[in-house]
Amino acid sequence: MEAMDTKLTYSDAAAFTTPMFAVFVLDLAEDKQSDPRPVLLSSNPTITAAAKTLLSSGEFKAALGEVALLHAAAGLKSERLLLVGLGKAGDFSLDRIRKGAGTAVRAAKSRSVRDLAIAFPDPHATTDAQIAKLSAPLTARALVEGAEIAELDYDTYRSDRKNAAVDSLTLISNESEANLQTEIQRGFDEGLILAAAQNFTRALVNEPGNILTPTVLGARAQTMCDQAGLKCEVHSSAKLQELKMEAFWAVAKGSAEPPALIVMTYEPQTAPPTGAPVIGLVGKGITFDTGGISIKPADGMEKMKYDMAGAAAMIGAMHAIARLKPAVKVIAVVCSAENMPDGRAYKPGDVVTAMSGTTIEIVNTDAEGRLVLADGLHYAKTLGCTHLIDAATLTGACVVALGIINAGLFSNDDPTCAKFVSALEVSGEKFWRLPSTDDYRDHIKSEIADIMNTGKNRYGGATSAAMFLKEFAGDTPWVHLDIAGCAWNEEKKPWIAYGPSGIAVRSIVEWVRSYSA
Ligand code: BES
Ligand code: MN
Ligand code: ZN
Repeated sequence: MEAMDTKLTYSDAAAFTTPMFAVFVLDLAEDKQSDPRPVLLSSNPTITAAAKTLLSSGEFKAALGEVALLHAAAGLKSERLLLVGLGKAGDFSLDRIRKGAGTAVRAAKSRSVRDLAIAFPDPHATTDAQIAKLSAPLTARALVEGAEIAELDYDTYRSDRKNAAVDSLTLISNESEANLQTEIQRGFDEGLILAAAQNFTRALVNEPGNILTPTVLGARAQTMCDQAGLKCEVHSSAKLQELKMEAFWAVAKGSAEPPALIVMTYEPQTAPPTGAPVIGLVGKGITFDTGGISIKPADGMEKMKYDMAGAAAMIGAMHAIARLKPAVKVIAVVCSAENMPDGRAYKPGDVVTAMSGTTIEIVNTDAEGRLVLADGLHYAKTLGCTHLIDAATLTGACVVALGIINAGLFSNDDPTCAKFVSALEVSGEKFWRLPSTDDYRDHIKSEIADIMNTGKNRYGGATSAAMFLKEFAGDTPWVHLDIAGCAWNEEKKPWIAYGPSGIAVRSIVEWVRSYSA
């Protein structure tokens, strides 16, 4: 399947010839009681005239994800004019633009329209004071990201799938100043890189456990690294033993599929001075989580093929980092295994010694993610990482706490966490910080060993898991992302398909770039 051909053009909107031309619409209504007041984010007189009757009819409310289609509008070169609602003016943001662009692409797909254009939201279209002023390059980036993410459907394994691919997308800006055009182009180029990385992650997460084993995940990472010019090493059981990664190995040994320890390295073009930060990305790559001997109930177990979404996010992030070339060294450590019940599987009551020397009492073999990450985090430190971030579909408790709107964010260092929160403003992703302060250390205290792999009760389960990881981050500044609730979209939205979301890729990349010298 060919990727969508996405272009950027500076032109007059009404004169552009395309099968479908999409324009955004905001609702200026101040409160819930008043009727919607849709306003077009275009100051083009031909387009304004074409949309006038529909917008004044009250039929189109400009809600986020709402679309209306006009054919053969007078004076317009395009065959169709698509109005795309962005919701209330007070909520106008880069994320609304991202979703709007996605909605336009998916509206084209569902109508078998193969080519479309989207107009940049024109800030001069309305003088309303409550509309946020957004940066032009970030707007360009959000448009591209939203469009590229929306293009994909995860129906790879359906024989009855239709070809609904959009062949080309043109973003139309009326900017005439050369300096700003350069800025917009830069945002556009970055958007393509971020979206490609996120879509690569999504493709990995979509794969079923029988196809994407740890070995195959390692091979996919290796291929990506070879193409992107990154160093990549893929190790297996022998290396785990050599490094004394007993926690990781405990999880891996119950499966006939060998584990994979994937180490990807990005070196900036000019060698950083000694003492410069080295960023470590650590991903949970459980290609299928049965729960092991503490086996999960059958209902919904098929979902546990996405238990490698943290690993996939790190592999995708490395893809983008290789292309964006920040001036900071980055090492990604992916710990991949299958969690299975077996004659050789680890058991509740087992005691293992992690690579760091910490002894762990196994209480529940379904709390396997923190075990593989324990050795991954420690290993990243031995490779010289000065700042750590991990991503993992780690706990159901995090989903109970935050639902599926926000993913969990934990950190042992406020400045490092603040940098991540700043990155969210650019990525548009939603993470909500939960505590991992030392007063929760009791949760993981064991009578038998240094720590145990579950909390002493069900309370605050996402924090218990974070406290366990914190033990291995030690004094190194560290951010932990629990993406269990957000890695898989259960519902289709007007701007994104059912299935893998690719969450965390954009935020992790932005956070890494914040360390660029
Ligand atoms: N992979 C699961 C967490 C998960 C749950 C991911 C729902 C996605 C959706 C993890 O390995 C797990 O099983 N965690 C246990 C921990 C418990 C045994 C302490 C959980 O959350 O129940
Ligand atoms: Mn589990
Ligand atoms: Zn798991």
